[in-house]
Amino acid sequence: MPLVSGKALLAHAHQNQYAIGAFNFANMENLQAVIEAAEELQSPVIIQITEKSIEYAGLDYLYALGRCAGENAKVPVALHLDHGKKWESVIRCLRYGWTSVMMDASHKPFEENIALTRKIVEFAREVNVSVESELGFIGGKEGDITPEGNIYTEVDEAVEFVRRTNTDALAIAVGTAHGIYKGEVNIDFNRIKEIKAQTDIPLVLHGSSGVPDEMIKRAVLSGINKVNFDTEIKLASLEALKAFLDQHPYEYDIRKIYKPARQAMKEKIKEKIKLLSSEGKNWITAYDSPDKHDVSLLTGGFN
Ligand code: 13P
Repeated sequence: MPLVSGKALLAHAHQNQYAIGAFNFANMENLQAVIEAAEELQSPVIIQITEKSIEYAGLDYLYALGRCAGENAKVPVALHLDHGKKWESVIRCLRYGWTSVMMDASHKPFEENIALTRKIVEFAREVNVSVESELGFIGGKEGDITPEGNIYTEVDEAVEFVRRTNTDALAIAVGTAHGIYKGEVNIDFNRIKEIKAQTDIPLVLHGSSGVPDEMIKRAVLSGINKVNFDTEIKLASLEALKAFLDQHPYEYDIRKIYKPARQAMKEKIKEKIKLLSSEGKNWITAYDSPDKHDVSLLTGGFN
């Protein structure tokens, strides 16, 4: 089926108190691992790319891969831009046919974050694409910004932000950080519950690698509906590649080298999906009709 709007997926997760896994991809094997894992567990899934992946692979290749994955998958798939910090990247993804985008202006002052997010929401509405935004500051290394630490999302600011931007989903800073944790993870579950109760929209958890399984489950029960995983999937791939090359130091057939890496990523992704209660939710929704998703409807953006 065609790629599904992130809105449809997250709205269902929000209403039914579960979360959808969002997995970053930068190449074919990585993407196939995500789709195979989701299909085996009959779970909807979000595939996502970053601005760094655009620099690495180019938008054409990433879109072709993402669309092919969605069209061939036996589960609903949304194609998402993760941490769109540049206005131009977000607009380009909207124009290309991404079905979900993140306008991440969380590093900017509150009013500027609101203004940029609201503008993107207006454009995205024209093509029925879902918008995720971020409020607060999620630490760790992501994109080109390496913040010192977290600045937790304030509940009253979240309420005002959602009301004034009309964002479809909100990424909140509640104690997680991107990349590998140096110390213990502490998640402020009450803050998640409070933000959920007051905003009543899908909430997103970033920096989920290295977070103990029980904490992920509790975060979902507290109101998280999209959980982003990247580092642990990359590490699973790397370990499998190293192990294979240790055993076969003279192998040069890239297909043989990548096969166990793809399998290792798939197993890790399945472990993560099982924490989110999205397993078996392979409902085939009345996904957005292609005409509603005609990117030529998008009239502005660059001016
Ligand atoms: P991890 O790399 O910690 O899994 O975080 C991924 C993420 O939040 C992408 O936006």
